Amino acid sequence: MDRSFFSISFDLILRGSELPYDLYVNSSSLEKKQKFIKVFPKKEVLEDNDLLEMKDKYKQLYVAEDERDLYVKSLIKNENASDIEVASLIKDSAISYLHQIFDPKKDFNTVILEETISGCKDAVENMIDVLDDYSIDGLSKLIASLSAHDFYTYDHSINVSMYCISLLRALKPDVSRVELMHAGLGGLLHDLGKIKIPTNILNSPGGLTEEQYQVIKTHPDIGFSLLDEIGIEVEGVDLKTISRVVHEHHEQWDGKGYPRGLKEKEIHLLARVCTIADFFDAITTKRSYSQVLTISQGIAIMDKNVGTKLDPTLFKIFKNYIKHSNVESTKDMRMADHFDPTIPYAELPLEEIDKLFTDDDFGKIKLIEDSDKPKKKKK
Ligand SMILES: [Fe+2]
Ligand SMILES: [Fe+2]
Repeated sequence: MDRSFFSISFDLILRGSELPYDLYVNSSSLEKKQKFIKVFPKKEVLEDNDLLEMKDKYKQLYVAEDERDLYVKSLIKNENASDIEVASLIKDSAISYLHQIFDPKKDFNTVILEETISGCKDAVENMIDVLDDYSIDGLSKLIASLSAHDFYTYDHSINVSMYCISLLRALKPDVSRVELMHAGLGGLLHDLGKIKIPTNILNSPGGLTEEQYQVIKTHPDIGFSLLDEIGIEVEGVDLKTISRVVHEHHEQWDGKGYPRGLKEKEIHLLARVCTIADFFDAITTKRSYSQVLTISQGIAIMDKNVGTKLDPTLFKIFKNYIKHSNVESTKDMRMADHFDPTIPYAELPLEEIDKLFTDDDFGKIKLIEDSDKPKKKKK
């Protein structure tokens, strides 16, 4: 099979220490035909003047796709690379892995699933390094500056993964790397079951019919059974944990979620983390057709779903992990109970909170019905 290559910026190439990847140029002058030739081998040290020479000689340098991970790793350590540049590369590699299983034209089998999970794990490991000190609002801004893919599920899965990593870090400051990786990988794969849901249902901007909604609601079960397949093994990954995130991310704290109606701590911790990340991304990340809330509006709205949909303790930590944005109060609005982050809403189902007292109530004495009257004490 032909190797594929991706273009890189001259300024982001590692200098002064062993280069972990080979550098290539495209020697073909024909636009449609590409012929890649190695111009600098890995394990040699590239100095500033070598690079200047290359800049003069070549228009563009490339790295082989199968060495992308090595390139990203070297970039994380490179002070010249901005977080946006590194994050977008990680996002590209995560998308290429997700695409292996989400593309309906591609074959699907357990070997491909194992390869995908293992590739996703590498992407998550890199995310953990880049997101080292990101607060939720800082992360939300980083996410907004990354370019969006046509297929919403890719963007959404990657965003959820990043929020899961940040939230778990805030929850457990001394969290182990393995746990963080499982939180991130669970987030990245949480909607895995959607590979079996037709795209016209997933992206239907006009909302869903009841029948289509029932189809979409099967995705946690589908994802779970795909991972539960006997014999799937990925080194360093506890698939039982990942499959619980996949299975339980639409369960609710109050037991009214799906597919099984689990409640409170019956739901795996990482699935509860994922539920918050899923909810937050669905209401704050722009999809082509819907209006979204600002970070602070999103938090204020979610605050009203604490104890019903969301784990109160986890949400409190999430909310306190906002560093630079003031949380506005949206006194009179809440998200409708039927809100489901999976649904492609044209407009978010916000509703007014029933006021406890209306203006008419003031200054009036309410009659108490007989049954409500306090019983007279017997003497
Ligand atoms: Fe989902
Ligand atoms: Fe989701």
